[in-house]
Amino acid sequence: GFSSNSWKDTVANCRATGEFTWNLVTRSLAEAMNASSTTAEVDEFDAAGVEVAESVEIAAPRVAASPATFECRVTQIIDLRSATGEASGSWFTVGEVVGVHLDESLLVDGIVDTAAAEPVLRGGGPTTYFGISADQRFDMRRPG
Ligand SMILES: Cc1cc2nc3c(=O)[nH]c(=O)nc-3n(C[C@H](O)[C@H](O)[C@H](O)COP(=O)(O)O)c2cc1C
Repeated sequence: GFSSNSWKDTVANCRATGEFTWNLVTRSLAEAMNASSTTAEVDEFDAAGVEVAESVEIAAPRVAASPATFECRVTQIIDLRSATGEASGSWFTVGEVVGVHLDESLLVDGIVDTAAAEPVLRGGGPTTYFGISADQRFDMRRPG
């Protein structure tokens, strides 16, 4: 799922079509991801120079260069409220994953090697991001 901090095109499209895709942002896609956040009334795929891939189960397009993408059908669009019941002006859209596309070169013994995909994270503040690298990895087993 994802939040929309106002009734944006993305949540409106989800209400209209009942579908969305989730596309992992990697380091090489970061600048295009950022360009796609424009609120201008344009096709963000075109504006950010992002190549489209067709989905299989749904009509919504995917990001061709993303190594991990999910086709999703909307299950809930939740009108987020304060503890006293006031509207917040934000909506949380949740979907069921009905299709998975994964670059199989990321699989090591059947498990996704997250660092190999070089995903990026928001890092606090308006401009900061971080990458994920193998040297930051640690493993833990749950007790009992
Ligand atoms: C890294 C990043 C994360 C973002 N996260 C959110 C978010 O969680 N919720 C949101 O409403 N907008 C978020 N935005 C802004 C949206 O991308 C942008 O407002 C949206 O794409 C506008 O297009 P739309 O009107 O077509 O939906 C984010 C932007 C960036 C660059």
